[in-house]
Amino acid sequence: MEISPILSVHHVSKVYQNGTGVLTVLNDISFSLATGATCAIVGPSGCGKTTLLGLCAGLDRPTSGSVILQDHQLNVLSEDALATVRNTYVGFVFQSFQLIPTLTAVENVMVPVELRGDKRARALAVDLLHRVGLADRLQHYPIQLSGGEQQRVALARAFINQPRILFADEPTGNLDAETSEKVMRLLFDLNTQAGTALVLVTHNSELAQQTQRIIRLKGGRVISEEEPAKRRIGESENRGNGEFEKEPSTSSLSDSPTPRFPDSGCPGQKTNT
Ligand SMILES: Nc1ncnc2c1ncn2[C@@H]1O[C@H](COP(=O)(O)OP(=O)(O)OP(=O)(O)O)[C@@H](O)[C@H]1O
Ligand SMILES: [Mg+2]
Repeated sequence: MEISPILSVHHVSKVYQNGTGVLTVLNDISFSLATGATCAIVGPSGCGKTTLLGLCAGLDRPTSGSVILQDHQLNVLSEDALATVRNTYVGFVFQSFQLIPTLTAVENVMVPVELRGDKRARALAVDLLHRVGLADRLQHYPIQLSGGEQQRVALARAFINQPRILFADEPTGNLDAETSEKVMRLLFDLNTQAGTALVLVTHNSELAQQTQRIIRLKGGRVISEEEPAKRRIGESENRGNGEFEKEPSTSSLSDSPTPRFPDSGCPGQKTNT
């Protein structure tokens, strides 16, 4: 049975025009991602990875081409309709976190649920922050958190609406090796347990190798697509190489005695229709 794509990118280009001329950042990019699949977008700094992620997530619009996300053609939607699609299906972890400085950690995580008018926002946010190991940082403002802690608050915020697809821009970019592994586990737990598709931009080859497909960009074009031989964190067959076998999971999310999102009481759990 063919699995329908959650994301289809058709001949997308992005061109910026400024005083000094025209800059083609993305040039005729096409690919698609099956529901629940994982992929990494890699390439040198400035090659257009963040730009592509923003287009795929409906945060920005292409100059030409189209993006279809969960059967919605994004380029024909109004700003309001686009915001609704984003809040319903998409989680996004920004390269620079983009936490709201005047809100505490728990309030930042609550934002997407409050936008949906769900009264359980605080309880859900507290639960998620426990799961990402920040139970004792709920009332801290972003400036009072370390880079890795801010990263985990941003992840909790991206998880809270149980997105069908999570875009994460350099999710381990600011983290030490140990915290980086925790974050990788969080991401792949979300994928294996809630079926969330993952699109990760990363310079971390270890992380890229855990995905099912690596899309390599250079000069705004796709120069290769690979299927890494290595299996993902969390896949039982992965235990063969022993790499993640030595220690039990260090992520609070993985360690949670309760099942993940399917029973977590989070709102808006999506089903494939
Ligand atoms: N609003 C803009 N106007 C003009 N040029 C832009 C704009 N946004 C991005 N660019 C240019 O587009 C190119 C790609 O930027 P992008 O942020 O997508 O790169 P990246 O691959 O994510 O790089 P990095 O690995 O450093 O994060 C860069 O050269 C950047 O200067
Ligand atoms: Mg970038």
